[in-house]
Amino acid sequence: MMNNTFICKDLKAELQEYLSSLPHDKLFVLTDTNTQQKCLPLLQDIPAIRNAPLITVPSGDTHKELEQLSFIWSHLSREGASRDSVLLNLGGGMITDMGGFAAAVFKRGIRTINVPTTLMASVDAAIGGKTAVNFNGLKNEIGSFHPPLAVFIDCGFLRTLDKDNILSGYAEMIKHGLISSPQTYASVLALDLNSPPDYTTLNQMVACSVAVKERIVKEDPKEKGIRKALNFGHTVGHALESLSFIKHTPLLHGHAVAAGIICELYLSHKLCAFPMPELSRTVHYIKTHYSPTLFTCNDYDTLCELMTHDKKNEGGTINFTLLAGIGDVRINQTADREKILDSLDFYRESFGI
Ligand SMILES: NC(=O)c1ccc[n+]([C@@H]2O[C@H](COP(=O)([O-])OP(=O)(O)OC[C@H]3O[C@@H](n4cnc5c(N)ncnc54)[C@H](O)[C@@H]3O)[C@@H](O)[C@H]2O)c1
Ligand SMILES: [Zn+2]
Repeated sequence: MMNNTFICKDLKAELQEYLSSLPHDKLFVLTDTNTQQKCLPLLQDIPAIRNAPLITVPSGDTHKELEQLSFIWSHLSREGASRDSVLLNLGGGMITDMGGFAAAVFKRGIRTINVPTTLMASVDAAIGGKTAVNFNGLKNEIGSFHPPLAVFIDCGFLRTLDKDNILSGYAEMIKHGLISSPQTYASVLALDLNSPPDYTTLNQMVACSVAVKERIVKEDPKEKGIRKALNFGHTVGHALESLSFIKHTPLLHGHAVAAGIICELYLSHKLCAFPMPELSRTVHYIKTHYSPTLFTCNDYDTLCELMTHDKKNEGGTINFTLLAGIGDVRINQTADREKILDSLDFYRESFGI
């Protein structure tokens, strides 16, 4: 899987060449309603894709569930998919997660190719092999590890993506910068997201971000240890995301993660001596680009409760990944309630909310 992520200069040519040399009987294409309309036309010149049966599901994470899986499997069956067929997932993380899982178990596993069309999917969801659907109101409750055969990334798709979704994916790039190296992090903070992005520069930065995730996943594919580095910002981030759903003001995942990064850098400063100047630079960058994630001290109990029940915890303690410096990751850290509340206060003070 690891050498099969292509950051494309010419997506159509590269994908066409790959497909024509790939032994398979049938190719299927999975899209959601948006990516069918906005992304599929960019690939229609490729004969293998033009002739492939198309499976289209409704867009949005609420559709990443059993009913749509069943729809995908029915379609594959009806069109005669075999063990030698390939499913090409064209979409954001919702499509790469659900298509990946549909393929992982169809006839005990068929191969997938991911063509991510959001920034979130390009730098995170489409790579690393985790696939899942939501179940019984629980996110990613049913899933498996099913690495794609290949991933073709082209930031050209992002031209039609709205700014909130760009910012959401960028939060994972901020995270990848923080857990990797000062150089990578400096380049992340150098990009001004308030002006229209230069897609060539973005493609290079995405390549760098993807390399960070791939290096970590290669070391620890099943998340026994260092893969937990990728959870940085996500303990508080997931709690804020869940709170936003409870309050019926849903946040995009990466926006909650951006707030989580600030809280967890504060904890890193208090518990692992992460340098204050770096914390301040990060707060400044996130404040300049992201709207504040709104919560008050009345939400603290709920947030702590949500963190305690995060599925990544073991034995009732809240598990954090913290940093002693940029690129200096400390997994399996714990923080007491008082410190966690201090970090939430720090976020609110930083954003003046
Ligand atoms: N497997 C993993 O490791 C992993 C990592 C991160 C996130 N995820 C999962 O990914 C999902 C979130 O991914 P996402 O943020 O890409 O969401 P998404 O796939 O729902 O895409 C967001 C929205 O953008 C639309 N869209 C996609 N590409 C577009 C384009 N080029 N132009 C215009 N609109 C476009 C989609 O139709 C959707 O409405 C969640 O389900 C999350 O659990 C998985
Ligand atoms: Zn994330």
